[in-house]
Amino acid sequence: MRQNEICFDGRVAIVTGAGNGLGRDYALNLARRGASVVVNDLGVDTRGQPLGENGESAAQKVVREIESTGGKAVACHESCATREGGSAIVQAALDAFGKVDIFIHNAGFLRNGPFETQTDAQIKAIMDVHLLAGFYVGQPAFAAMKRNGYGRILMTSSASAFFGMPWQANYAAAKLGLAGLVNAIALEGKSHGIQANGLLPAGSGRLGRGDGEMDWPEGLMAAVPDGMEMIAPCMRNAYVTPMVLWLVSERCKTSHSFYSATAGRFAKIFIGATQGWLSDFDTPPMPEDIERHMAEIDDVSTFEMPHIVFDEFRPIIAAHRARLEKKGG
Ligand SMILES: NC(=O)c1ccc[n+]([C@@H]2O[C@H](COP(=O)([O-])OP(=O)(O)OC[C@H]3O[C@@H](n4cnc5c(N)ncnc54)[C@H](O)[C@@H]3O)[C@@H](O)[C@H]2O)c1
Repeated sequence: MRQNEICFDGRVAIVTGAGNGLGRDYALNLARRGASVVVNDLGVDTRGQPLGENGESAAQKVVREIESTGGKAVACHESCATREGGSAIVQAALDAFGKVDIFIHNAGFLRNGPFETQTDAQIKAIMDVHLLAGFYVGQPAFAAMKRNGYGRILMTSSASAFFGMPWQANYAAAKLGLAGLVNAIALEGKSHGIQANGLLPAGSGRLGRGDGEMDWPEGLMAAVPDGMEMIAPCMRNAYVTPMVLWLVSERCKTSHSFYSATAGRFAKIFIGATQGWLSDFDTPPMPEDIERHMAEIDDVSTFEMPHIVFDEFRPIIAAHRARLEKKGG
């Protein structure tokens, strides 16, 4: 190991959906740097249908790869998308390694389709595997972390959620739901040494390839910018995993944040409130007042980044106070 290398010796990590794609890369690299890893994977295709893996499962293959280089890992084939499965995944970590330090929720699949025709089955399956799994595995993992006063949680969100993508209403809603989950966990975990962050990756996992198996609206490709071939070499898992390893490391002190790891660019993604327009405090505004002030309301040149609901009130109180002082003076 190189000097000053980020190290996971003695740490126990759970990675959901670690049999393929990005999750596999996280598991291999965490183990390479000393972590004991629960490689969770149900073994499904990109639409969540059983693969019927004959012989060795994807999760077992990853475990064998880790063990062949002297690392420690166990496979867990439970679904993270059920309450029982989530508990069993965390129990697998406790049984094999005695604790949980790191939880990366990465498992998932897609069931794309136009918003107006998405069925309950389409919506619920996506909510279960992306959003609810964050609760099902996250709750027992959080409880285990709390016992040791240490934890690193990383939820996999998506650019589709933060920025938008047609035919992914189910997926985008679930993935943005994970952002809300991160915000709450980060606040609740702070006093227990537990940090929570979210990731917007673009890698070469099966879901990132956008191959023929995916359903997209006709003409979508026309919106793809010219020059994608230039950045294609960086659309690989190797350009996502370093950000993930950093965020779940002991050295990282960041929490309550979202980062994009896309095509070699690593960027903070944030939610902000513009300075906005301050209405008269004695007389409620009319809709026409809102219309007239939309430019100020929309002006993103000055903004705040609230980190708890109450933060939003601070600049409003300050502006109100300044206005009163001006009036008084
Ligand atoms: N690849 C990208 O570019 C990209 C972009 C944005 C977001 N993401 C997100 O990153 C994550 C990984 O994507 P990927 O492309 O590596 O996917 P992938 O299909 O290569 O791997 C996902 C794994 O999750 C497993 N899985 C599915 N349902 C499961 C369940 N209920 N329980 C346990 N395991 C289950 C699958 O068997 C599969 O091995 C997903 O959450 C995806 O939405 C990926």
